Amino acid sequence: MRYENGTAFSHWNVVGHRWGMALVLLAPILGSCAGPQPLHVAIDPQDESTYLRFANDANLNGRVAFANWMSEERGISPEEVLRLDAELSSTRNPFDAYRDKQAVSRGAVIYRIHCFRCHGDDARGHGPATLADHPANDFKTFSSRFAATLHRGAPRKWFRVIRDGDGDVVQYPDEKTTAMPAFSQTLAREQIWLVITYLQSLDMHAAADGVEAR
Ligand code: HEC
Repeated sequence: MRYENGTAFSHWNVVGHRWGMALVLLAPILGSCAGPQPLHVAIDPQDESTYLRFANDANLNGRVAFANWMSEERGISPEEVLRLDAELSSTRNPFDAYRDKQAVSRGAVIYRIHCFRCHGDDARGHGPATLADHPANDFKTFSSRFAATLHRGAPRKWFRVIRDGDGDVVQYPDEKTTAMPAFSQTLAREQIWLVITYLQSLDMHAAADGVEAR
């Protein structure tokens, strides 16, 4: 399954970097009043450029990109990376959104490349590819924040939804699929946990900034 094509992707890449620059300069101003930290703050540019290098080589298949990147970083073969990945728990997040900045950054990169187009830059579910009658989830509503952090069951449910997909079968411009597409073929387990860690980090910052529950 493929959504992003090379053209759209590099377009976002370029736009992302230009805005990224502008926003880095604005961050101290925005940071004092905004809610959960936005993508450009969460992302360490080094993580993004490295992932993009591997993702472009892998025709944007995140799982293949991950295997090759971790092969280089961990000094084991890509096959071994995926063999170990298959042993990761599907019920317990191995990363801690409160302490692991690198996991949040790498999860945010996955979000920007694979999820942003539906869930939106600000994780409120208004990405450019969202269908009007099938909105993507707003990850900043109180119910999802509450569920993700206080009620520990939700990340496990999120893992299932991201891996297997969810909702009605709908027609997107390029593909007919469940409203929330399945990522089992395009993301490694570790990547699913990383992107969940990023979503959990939104809650952490919302709490820190005193955003009221609604
Ligand atoms: C093609 C559009 C699209 C893309 C791409 C997409 N989503 Fe979704 N997502 C949706 C829609 C639509 C829903 C609501 C599904 C429904 O109607 O039940 C959803 C639901 C979800 C849910 C369920 C939330 C809950 O509390 O029930 C999670 C978690 C989620 N998406 C995470 C992700 C992640 C992480 C990515 C990237 C790896 C991603 N999505 C990419 C459209 C998308």
